[in-house]
Amino acid sequence: MFDLHPIRTHPWLAHLEHHAEIGSTNDRALELSATEDLPTPALVLADRQNAGRGRGTNRWWSADGALTFSLVLDPEQIAVPTQRWPQVSLTAAVAIVSALEPFAPSVRFGVKWPNDVHAEGRKISGILVEVPNHPGRVGRRIILGIGINVNNSWQSAPEELRAVGTALTDLTGTAHSMTDVLLGLLDELQTRLGQLSQSDARLVDAWQSLCVLRGRQVEVDLGQRIAAGACAGIDAEGALILDSPTGSERLWGGIVRAIR
Ligand code: BTN
Repeated sequence: MFDLHPIRTHPWLAHLEHHAEIGSTNDRALELSATEDLPTPALVLADRQNAGRGRGTNRWWSADGALTFSLVLDPEQIAVPTQRWPQVSLTAAVAIVSALEPFAPSVRFGVKWPNDVHAEGRKISGILVEVPNHPGRVGRRIILGIGINVNNSWQSAPEELRAVGTALTDLTGTAHSMTDVLLGLLDELQTRLGQLSQSDARLVDAWQSLCVLRGRQVEVDLGQRIAAGACAGIDAEGALILDSPTGSERLWGGIVRAIR
């Protein structure tokens, strides 16, 4: 499924762990991040996940042909200070769009705040960022988990999911090299995380122009309440801006439930 040599020797990566099958690459990356001398960025890559996790209590459905991996990052090494951690997910979303575009140049990709990538209005990728809390080492690593529907045609997805997702192969009508998609994405992650650390305006421009919620009426489940309003886009700090008759508010997280 993967040609491991060019992945292992990718200039940005310091460590690769490959699994034919695993529960969740994020779970394994969380475990691995407890290792004191783990070289980073460390990549945990799986041909197949059988217990992939999404945000909250969500599961991540993926059949063979999905690209699923997690990176263990050292925020100090990549020079991303704590106040910018909430932007890692959006940064990864922008990197995913930049990496997928060359494979499907006529497809309209977008970022659905805060952690999804859409293609032609359907979800093609999800991101799960977690911070391990190993005693004495809290805040020393970030886990960036990414799932992308590449060759797992969404036509075989469970009925209830079919209308909301898509895969690269469904958009282009052809199968793609998983190795090439991953290598392109590692390049883009390196570039875009570099832009995050430098506060590079090109990154903010990208997430603003890719925001699929802008101009739409949205409802965001914040846990304790639902925020509703017209989305005015994503600001430079990565917050979603909602305008409503009672004023404007900036949201830092939540589940977008309804879009009109
Ligand atoms: C979401 O859509 O809510 C996020 C989905 C994230 C899925 C990826 S697949 C690789 C990594 N391992 C996991 O268990 N989850 C993430």
